Parts: sequence; C-alpha cells; structure tokens
Amino acid sequence: MKDDKPTNQSWGGRFNEATDQFVARFTASVNFDQRLYQYDIQGSLAHAKMLAKAGILSADELADIQRGLGEIAEEIAAGSFQWSIELEDVHMNIEAALTAKIGIAGKKLHTGRSRNDQVATDIKLWLRAEIGELLNAITHLQEGLATLAQREAHTIMPGFTHLQTAQPVTFGHHLMAWYEMLERDYSRLHDCRARMNQSPLGAAALAGTTYPIDRDYSAQLLGFDRPTENSLDSVSDRDFAIEFCAAASLIMTHLSRASEELVLWSSAQFNFIELPDRFCTGSSIMPQKKNPDVPELVRGKTGRVTGHLIALLTLMKSQPLAYNKDNQEDKEPLFDTVDTLKDCLRAYGDMVPAIEVNTEAMRKAASSGFSTATDLADYLVRKGVAFRDSHEIVGSAVAHCIKVDKDLSELALEELQLFSKEIDSDVFTVLTLEGSVAARNHLGGTAPEQVQAAVARALQNIATRREQSL
Ligand code: ARG
Repeated sequence: MKDDKPTNQSWGGRFNEATDQFVARFTASVNFDQRLYQYDIQGSLAHAKMLAKAGILSADELADIQRGLGEIAEEIAAGSFQWSIELEDVHMNIEAALTAKIGIAGKKLHTGRSRNDQVATDIKLWLRAEIGELLNAITHLQEGLATLAQREAHTIMPGFTHLQTAQPVTFGHHLMAWYEMLERDYSRLHDCRARMNQSPLGAAALAGTTYPIDRDYSAQLLGFDRPTENSLDSVSDRDFAIEFCAAASLIMTHLSRASEELVLWSSAQFNFIELPDRFCTGSSIMPQKKNPDVPELVRGKTGRVTGHLIALLTLMKSQPLAYNKDNQEDKEPLFDTVDTLKDCLRAYGDMVPAIEVNTEAMRKAASSGFSTATDLADYLVRKGVAFRDSHEIVGSAVAHCIKVDKDLSELALEELQLFSKEIDSDVFTVLTLEGSVAARNHLGGTAPEQVQAAVARALQNIATRREQSL
C-alpha cells in the first residue's frame, strides 16, 4: 500500500513511503549544485540533439525540449525559478520543471542517460570554464609582476637564505621568481584542463546504455576532445577535480609564500615596501597600525584550499566502482577552491602593480650583513687562490669587520691586505652592490641586464598566449 505523501517523482515508482523530511534535506544537493545549472542545461541540450539524431526523439520533441530548457535557463538567471529540496538536485529540479512545461517530451530527455554521467559531465563543463578564467587571472598577475620587475630591474635588495642576508639581488629578479612559479602553475592548470576534456555522456548509470547513442556527437557538441573510454570509470572517478585542487593548492602555496614576504617587507623592521592604504586596514585600538590584511588573508586561505584537496582525496580513496553518493560531496570543496583562488588571484592582480618600493631601505639592508663576502671570495679565486682558502680568508675578514663594526667595503686597502696579499685596489668595485649584482650576468642570474631580458621573454610569452586564446 502506498503512502499518500508524495515521493520524488523521478524515482518514486518502487517506493512505498515518502522520504523522511530530514533524509530529504540530508541527501539533497540542490542548495549548492544549482550553481551548475547552465552546464546542466548545456549538457541536456547536447544529449537531446544526439537523441534526435539517433531517431530516439522526434524533431518536434527536440524543439520542445530546446524551448523548455531555454525558458528554464532564463527563469533561473532571473531568480524566478522555484528550487525544491524534494527534487534533490539541480538535475531533477530542471527535468521536473521541463516536464511541467512541455509534458511527455520532458520525460523522454533522460533516455539513455543517468544522473551519474550527467553530473560528471556538468562538473567537467563547469570546471573547464572556470579554469579558463583562472588562467586569465594568472596571466594578468604575471603581467603585473613582469611590468614591476622591469621598473625595478636595477633596484638592489638583500637576497636571503635562512632569512639571513646572503647576497645582493635585484628586486626585479625577486619578482621574476614569483613570475616563474606562476608560469608552472599556469601550465599545471592547462594540463589539467586538457586531461579532463573527455565526455562522460553516454556512460549512463555505469555500464552504458541499450540505445543506439552517438557519444562522439554529444562529445563534439560540448567541445570535448573525445568521449571517455570506460563507462565505469567515467561516472565514478573525480581525479580531475582532485588534480585541479592539487594545482590550486600549489598556486595558493605560491601566493602564500609571496604574502609572507609582503607582510615582512611592509613591517617597520624591514620597511622595504609600502602597500597602498586601500589594501590595508587599521586597528580599532592602536592608532598607528596599518595592517597588511590582504596578503595575510591570502596566506590564511591557503590552508582551506589545501584542506579541500585533502578532503577530495579522502572522499575518493575507498570508493568501489562505480558511482557512489559519496561523490556528491565533491562539489562544495571544489566550488570553494575555485572561489577562493579567484579572489586571491584578483587581490594579487590588483595589489602587485600598486606596491610602492622603498629603494633606499632595500639598499641599506643589502649593504649590511656582508652581502658581498662571496664576491670577495670569488675575487680571490680569480687571483689564483683556491676557493676553500679564499672562503677561509674572507671568513676571517668578516670576523674582523664584526669586531670593528665596519662593512667589508669600508675597510682600507691595507686592512684588507692583512688577510691576503692578493687583494688590490680593484677590489672595491667588486665589493659594491652594483658590482656584485652586475657580475651575475648569465641566464637566470640577478644582473639587471638578465632581469630585463627575462622580462622581455615574459612579456612576449604573455602576448603569444593571449593571441593563441583569441
Ligand atoms: N546529486 C548527485 C551528485 O552530485 C547526482 C548523481 C546522483 N546519482 C545517483 N545515483 N543518486 O552526485
């Protein structure tokens, strides 16, 4: 005997009682997966066109479906569409609305398809589009970095290892290091998009379908490179989402490292840069404060993106083939990863060109801490001293400098010569900051000339990329 309460009309046939209200809410995904609606409709339109081509739908039925789905898309965009928890997810909400609009043809749309291949298709279409936007955001940020690096190609700052002054570098060189990280991030996202661009449509629930479908045709309509090979795999794996989250985590890790530096550099102790007021906030108690909230938040949000990666890996790890409802849990972490990444890339894209550089403070910091000690050691090597011996000699000279509170460049020639007779008056050009950076003049080195060349290659790369995506 059937309970008279309504069950879900899409699968209610074999059920004898209505879904528990809590269970309906617990199992529903419509509150978050409605975000996929455009792609769900796009997928349905391609599927319907394929069914019509295969003679499974008539031309009239296809026309009804196209009109109905078009209206639904407009209603959703306008905010007038009534979403219902009872209809579980975006797919069944749209299908039910279609059937209410056009009748029997709406009920035929799901022929040769399952929500399992449908949802995998939707996510791929959505993610593919989002990756496109993220790639543009990365390019925009890279352009900002290269442009700033161009301007700061001659600006000298201390380079660090262990956060201790190591050797002078140019600020432009430092910025171009960030550019390179993002270049690999770009290519990771690009690869991820290429690998996932195969259509799951036609895999149906798990085993394929008995209808004479044309998977190549629907794949082609949706701009996929080809259909997926194996139906079980197509509906079950979310490795593409995991791969994306891994690439996203690396981008966030890179932005987080840059954030850490921006926070340090904008402190009174470093004072290397100033972030414009519009990227900072004050303190409600300490009137002097100007806090670098934007980089701090980017650094903080890195944790949540990495968390989403771990969530998806954990979600996947024990699932038997093929589809399991576990996979419904893929969406919120994935959505939040995209949203967070977009915001952070936008924040950086806006902030980087606005960084104000305190050239004097950078220079002053570079000239303390014996940043040219290696240059002196290399100088002695050029005069015929073995590197290990010259390292020892310069070490003693530095110890002496610490005792007398002077920099190497401030010692008189006679004083320097106490450490090695090979030292001559030409040593002083070697001990200058400019001499030090200019001497590292090879591919990948910090010399201003190399920075300018790297910037030129970067801007060319960006121009080519933009041309190709037109
Ligand atoms: N809302 C579901 C999801 O996101 C759609 C697929 C449901 N399939 C099923 N067999 N219950 O995964």
